[in-house]
Amino acid sequence: MREGHASRTAEQNALFRALESARPESERICDDPLARHFLTWPLSLAMRGAAIPGGARFVSSYIDRRWPGVRSSVVARTRLIDDVISTAQDKDIEQLVILGAGFDSRAYRISRLHGVEVFEVDHPDTQVAKQGVLTRLLGVLPNHVRFVAVDFKRDDLTASISRAGYRESARTFILWEGVTNYLTEDAVDSTLRWCARASSGSILLFTYVHRDILTRPAAFAGTRNLFASLEKAGERFTFGMEPSRVPQYLAERGFSLELDIGAADYRERYYGAVARTIRGHEFYRVALARVDRRAV
Ligand SMILES: C[S@@+](CC[C@H](N)C(=O)[O-])C[C@H]1O[C@@H](n2cnc3c(N)ncnc32)[C@H](O)[C@@H]1O
Repeated sequence: MREGHASRTAEQNALFRALESARPESERICDDPLARHFLTWPLSLAMRGAAIPGGARFVSSYIDRRWPGVRSSVVARTRLIDDVISTAQDKDIEQLVILGAGFDSRAYRISRLHGVEVFEVDHPDTQVAKQGVLTRLLGVLPNHVRFVAVDFKRDDLTASISRAGYRESARTFILWEGVTNYLTEDAVDSTLRWCARASSGSILLFTYVHRDILTRPAAFAGTRNLFASLEKAGERFTFGMEPSRVPQYLAERGFSLELDIGAADYRERYYGAVARTIRGHEFYRVALARVDRRAV
């Protein structure tokens, strides 16, 4: 991230969600009516272009040509995570922790979460920008959301989130979407160890990238443009995992893995057969695990 600036990749994700939300209700895969409000120039301009008839299709296909597979991967994973949270909520989640929340608007747009304590943890530079937009939109910041400013590479998450009222004894859903790939191995390890202190049965959903994207990027479609944009944003990939090692890695930290699904598969879940024609971002993965201390 660039010092003093909100995360650019968080804003790009908001653009992909905003574009999808502008499609007709019967066609859209995810719906995030707040996403467009987080956009600044030049992404806000792209969104304005999308409002012109035919504009959304034009902007989306431009993005898909330059950064193959990224937009559809973010759209499908947004829906996948919305669905997982909704199912978990049926089982009475008491707390939702969103690590590296960026412009995630679930706490505001999913009405069933209004009765849940939500902790949005993020880098202070991104959080300040988000709070500004939310205050403008909603008047006041909602009572059920606590903002916790943390730099995962430097700050003590345990102390900061405890001060904000987080309870280790509560049934918790921890969401860590789009973040591990920007961190160090140590930061991922210490954050996971903190997550594992949540009450037994609590859920952790996180995303990660396949290790091969770091060691042999040329093997994946569209990596050159993607890496150039990440470099410009000051948010390069620094951490990845080999999927076959993930169950053991998580078990050593007190989790049992329940699902580990790559972009090609989660895209197919929501885009159907069309997904088989989409190339790019296959290295991106969503993992769902449960706190299970017997696994240690
Ligand atoms: C790609 S965005 C993902 C945002 C959101 N979770 C999503 O999926 O749209 C990465 C997020 O990680 C946060 N982040 C990156 N490095 C961080 C760090 N060292 N400490 C805290 N947050 C960090 C950024 O502020 C940003 O919100």
